[in-house]
Amino acid sequence: MVKIGGGVLQAPGGSDIDAERLARVARELQPHAAALAVVHGVGARPRRLLPSSVVNRRIPASDLEAVERVREAVAQLHREVLDAFVGSGLAARGWTLDEWAVVREGVLCGQRTALLEQVLAHRRVPVLCGGVLGAAPGFRIVSSDEVVRCVATALRARQVVWATDVDGVLDASGAVMPCVTRQNIQDVGIRASDARDATGGMTGKLENALLLAESGVPSCIVNGRVPGRIAAALAGGRVVGSRVEESC
Ligand SMILES: Nc1ncnc2c1ncn2[C@@H]1O[C@H](COP(=O)(O)OP(=O)(O)OP(=O)(O)O)[C@@H](O)[C@H]1O
Ligand SMILES: [Mg+2]
Repeated sequence: MVKIGGGVLQAPGGSDIDAERLARVARELQPHAAALAVVHGVGARPRRLLPSSVVNRRIPASDLEAVERVREAVAQLHREVLDAFVGSGLAARGWTLDEWAVVREGVLCGQRTALLEQVLAHRRVPVLCGGVLGAAPGFRIVSSDEVVRCVATALRARQVVWATDVDGVLDASGAVMPCVTRQNIQDVGIRASDARDATGGMTGKLENALLLAESGVPSCIVNGRVPGRIAAALAGGRVVGSRVEESC
């Protein structure tokens, strides 16, 4: 399974899809397309539409209009990502959160894995993303990283490659940590930007990756902006990046 972060989808400094980069990513995914699921992030565009009332990833029911704008922006981005993948020859099939996810008491659970398993059985690459779901009272932001954790667990993924816009998980000195576990998580140099990120930035990603590792699915966090790193991580070779495992 591969997560393509918003910073990989988008052109530097902008919020438009970088079609050229996505075509290159599609070429790196292609050799694994027979048994691959992809989740993409949403990056800056839908995030800018989030109301200031978001606390702990919850949006009050009174912000219905903002929720609708965010949902439309996510849906639009999802279509653009799919178009770029399909246009690059990847046999991708997109599914929105509403189509496959079930939220109970605010928790993403009961994924309709039968649907995803059928897509995989037909050698298509399911392409999913996060979004906003109704979770009365109000709404809840479901991060694409949470989607990765739920789906990778349910499908018993062999591994997750998280393609993001940094070389890996950095320690306090700025060096890439080759392996992150619960035992050395205190060495991670979390930047202040994570506190402003509605879906938790690297902090949220690591928590999802650690939970996955504990359920038997190891991860590798790589820089998807650098050509070849996703391919190398998928092939299981040596690559600049950080593994996230139960123990190193
Ligand atoms: N210790 C750290 N090591 C690496 N990156 C960190 C660290 N602390 C904070 N970050 C931030 O985390 C960011 C990556 O997480 P972010 O959520 O922005 O990307 P993503 O999950 O790939 O994209 P999206 O959220 O759009 O799917 C980096 O750009 C960096 O600024
Ligand atoms: Mg993120």
